[in-house]
This record gives sequence, C-alpha cells and structure tokens, in this order.
Amino acid sequence: MTSGMLANAKRLVAPSTRSEVPPFMVMDVMAAAARIEAQGGRVVHMEVGQPAAAAPATAIEAARAALGGRLDYTEALGIASLRARIARHYSEVYGTDVDPGRVIVTTGSSGGFILAFLALFEPGDRVAIATPGYPPYRHILTALGCEPVLIETSEATRWEITSEKLLDAHRRRRLQGLLVASPANPTGTMIKPEALAALLRTTEGEGIRFISDEIYHGLDYAFAAETALRLSDSAVVINSFSKYFCMTGWRIGWMVAPEPLVRPIERLQQNLAISVPTLSQIAAQAAFDGRAEMEAVKHGYEENRRTLLAGLPRAGLDRFLPVDGAFYLYADVSRFSKDSFDFAKRMLEEAGVAATPGVDFDPLHGREFLRFCYAGSAADMREAVERIGHWLRGARK
Ligand SMILES: Cc1ncc(COP(=O)(O)O)c(C=O)c1O
Repeated sequence: MTSGMLANAKRLVAPSTRSEVPPFMVMDVMAAAARIEAQGGRVVHMEVGQPAAAAPATAIEAARAALGGRLDYTEALGIASLRARIARHYSEVYGTDVDPGRVIVTTGSSGGFILAFLALFEPGDRVAIATPGYPPYRHILTALGCEPVLIETSEATRWEITSEKLLDAHRRRRLQGLLVASPANPTGTMIKPEALAALLRTTEGEGIRFISDEIYHGLDYAFAAETALRLSDSAVVINSFSKYFCMTGWRIGWMVAPEPLVRPIERLQQNLAISVPTLSQIAAQAAFDGRAEMEAVKHGYEENRRTLLAGLPRAGLDRFLPVDGAFYLYADVSRFSKDSFDFAKRMLEEAGVAATPGVDFDPLHGREFLRFCYAGSAADMREAVERIGHWLRGARK
C-alpha cells in the first residue's frame, strides 16, 4: 500500500466526532473486580445497577413456551396485547386511564430515549438534565446532535431540578426540553408529586418538552412515585421492564407518548429496529402476572436499605443523600478522599467492596461521591458494612 492509500484508508475509518462519547467508568471497576476474583479474591458487588434476581417465573415460562413456535417480527409499536396490558398497568397502579394506542414498546428504556429524542428534538436543541444524573442521557443527546444542559442540583432541593433552576437556565439561553428521573440514578432521590406538578406547569408554560424517566417506579420506599401521565397529556413517559421486573438482559421497555408523536415514533422504529425482540415482548406481557414474586424482591431491597442506613454510619460513611427509591445510595466520601475514583479503587482492593465513583454521574462534584447499589443479597449487604467498617477503622488508626 502506498502512503497515499494508507492516509486515505485512515481517513475513511476515522470515527465521527459525534461517536466520541465517554466510556462508562463503572465498567473499569467491574473489570478490576473481575481481576481480583480471577485470583481467588472475594468481592462484594455493589457497583452495577442491576437486580440480582431473575425475571418473574411467569415471564420465563411464557418465553419457554414461545420458543416452540415461530418468532416473527411484530408491529413496530409492539404486540397489541402487550400494549393493552401496559395501559392497564396505569389504571391498576396509578388509577389513571391510558389509551393503549399511546403505548409504544421499546428496546429497553435506552431504545425509548433514542426514539423520544429523535421525535421531539431538532439537532442543536438544548435539553436540561440534572447533575448528578444517569450518564447516557447526556451521551445519547450529544450523539444525536442535541445539547445536554447540566442543571446542578443540591441537597436543599432533594437533588432534583426545581422550576426556579429550570427557568434560570431557560432565561440564560432557551431550552427545548427537560428530562427528569424519579426515583433517580445515581442518587436514589425522588421528586415529591407537588414538585413534579410544578415542573410540568413550568415547562408547559414555557413551551419546553417534558420527558419523565420512570424506570425505577415500583421501587419507592419513602413515598409513592407519581407518574407524569397523571399530571399532563403532553409529557413523554419512559419506562422499562429492566428494574422492577428484573429483566435487564431481555432489553425491553415502553414509552407512553402524546398522540401526535405516536405515528412519527412508529415510522422511526420501523426504520431503526423494525420491531422489539418478539420473545421479550411475550415474556414482558406475562411478567405482569409475576408481581407477587417481584414484590418479594422489592422487600429484599427494603431490608438491604435498612441494613445500609443503620450500618454505613456505624462503619464511618455517615453522609449520604435521601435514600428514597431505586436501589442506590449516594454517599459523600469527601471526608476521606477528594478523589472518589481512587477511594473506590482502594476500597475494592483493600476491603473487597466494589462501588461506583461519582465522576461517571457528575462531572462537577462526582469526585466527592460513591454510588452503592443495594440490589444484591441481604448477606452481601451485611458483609459490605462489616468490611467497610473494618477497613475505615484500620485506615484511621
Ligand atoms: C435512570 C436510568 N434510566 C435508564 C436506564 C436504562 O435501562 P434499560 O435500557 O435497561 O431500560 C438505566 C439503567 O441503569 C437507568 O439507571
């Protein structure tokens, strides 16, 4: 190959700037934990945000039965009976009626974000999100040519965006969208229903489009989570079978969109994915019959939460945000280190407990925080508290 051909080849395979999204640092913690385990070491895993339990038995049985037949493409918006079952879920859980025609089945909530952002925003549109927050929000927006606008939150506002903060940012430069999550990742904090209603009123008044990530609904301990669907007809609601129903790897979720957006989203889905995996759709519909099993899993998280709320302060980690919902505890470790990445590395190597440094979630103050996921077993939680206490007491001597 001549040098000219080489230079040309290099240019042709150079990745686009929009693909230059940052990696997820939790993956580095997972890799370090795997190395310790490969050498026979013990690690209590609290770094990955996924349930330790399996999908409901009803879902697994339905999937098994479906494997005997053909698995064809489905309608782009999803199997009609699943869309109707999801709509029924809103009347059962929230007492609100949802037209099944507004329900769209997606490839996890991750697939829902891509469809929602494409359907709602033009390239260059500015979308407000909270920091700390779930990193893919900003990375998906950037990859799609939109601009994530980080709104700093604080303890005083329960780590959620308020109408004042939103209007502040909007007046500085117009926003086209707002995305909120309650319960949130990584903080586990929740928006009070009145605050959610106030935010919705503000966005509607200012012409800002509202997206509500409700993926952790069902996992609320401090008070009941409110759906944006009960408060507004214009909000886009995104949800998933990944967390409450323990179906992360099945890659299935849903969205409820205002009626005028349904057809555009259908066209996008037809072209981007054709349809969501049929096996997962069949399993998801049956998952609703496994709620009793999932409630037992939720009670396990509640016990874990109690173990950490009582145990971590005794172990030395006594500063964390309100632990309202999801299965996360976001702890301020600045008393011990100004670099939570280094703190997480040492806690893993010396105490055998893996947690995620806050830098993934918060470019501003993440170096002072660690996220603990308490979706594991009760025994793991007790062991983690023991190990951290022992380690921090040793470190302070
Ligand atoms: C807040 C939040 N939203 C969305 C997702 C994406 O989940 P999935 O695509 O599995 O539905 C996650 C995953 O951890 C999350 O924490």
